[in-house]
Amino acid sequence: MESNNNTGRFKGCIPSYGDADLCAAIMDTNRENWQRPDIVGKLITQPGMTVVDLGAGTGYFVDLFSKKLPEGKIIALDPEPSLITWMEERKNRGSMDNVSIHKITENDPGLDQLNVEIDILFVGYTYFHFNTPVRYFREKIYPYIQNKTVVAIADMAPVPGQVRHTVSSEQVIMEMVKAGFELTDEPTTCYDQYLLVFKKVPQKYVSE
Ligand SMILES: C[S@@+](CC[C@H](N)C(=O)[O-])C[C@H]1O[C@@H](n2cnc3c(N)ncnc32)[C@H](O)[C@@H]1O
Repeated sequence: MESNNNTGRFKGCIPSYGDADLCAAIMDTNRENWQRPDIVGKLITQPGMTVVDLGAGTGYFVDLFSKKLPEGKIIALDPEPSLITWMEERKNRGSMDNVSIHKITENDPGLDQLNVEIDILFVGYTYFHFNTPVRYFREKIYPYIQNKTVVAIADMAPVPGQVRHTVSSEQVIMEMVKAGFELTDEPTTCYDQYLLVFKKVPQKYVSE
């Protein structure tokens, strides 16, 4: 049975995501001071990469990927309508020409509709939202990415005594292995965050 009783795991969207101004105040303000290390720089290896940002929020990472990959293609996905509008306005302000923005549902990122080869599938501070992560990654991600696709999952590490909406790196690794992926890298991160890099194990689903 898939574990889904982690106390940090949310069912669906946090209601306050409907307030894009509040989200931007949290997700975009002074973030360079705590958002360490340079996750985007660690993941980019070529100039023309295609990046999917799953759970893109206000577009903080979308903007960074867009600027660092002017020859690349960035696809921002999020289920929250107010954040889709926010990102579209951000794009209209003129800084994200190589970005496309798509509203998805909570249970399906719609990768089958994209018709692109994906170099990086980035899941930043969003993994804890997936209610059934093994099934989600096995059925909605695995079939629609390539063997070369880097699946990068970044999040806060749980800290004893602090309430944090997150899932431990150990749990993410366990669930991703069950979904048919293998950990290929774990770049050095700030003490209270993690960055896990996976690739799919070709044609192999690991049984639960
Ligand atoms: C904590 S925010 C992180 C946003 C962004 N990745 C960042 O780091 O700034 C989590 C995001 O996940 C989105 N989200 C919630 N449930 C989701 C789901 N089932 N699938 C994809 N995204 C989801 C929310 O709407 C929100 O934008």
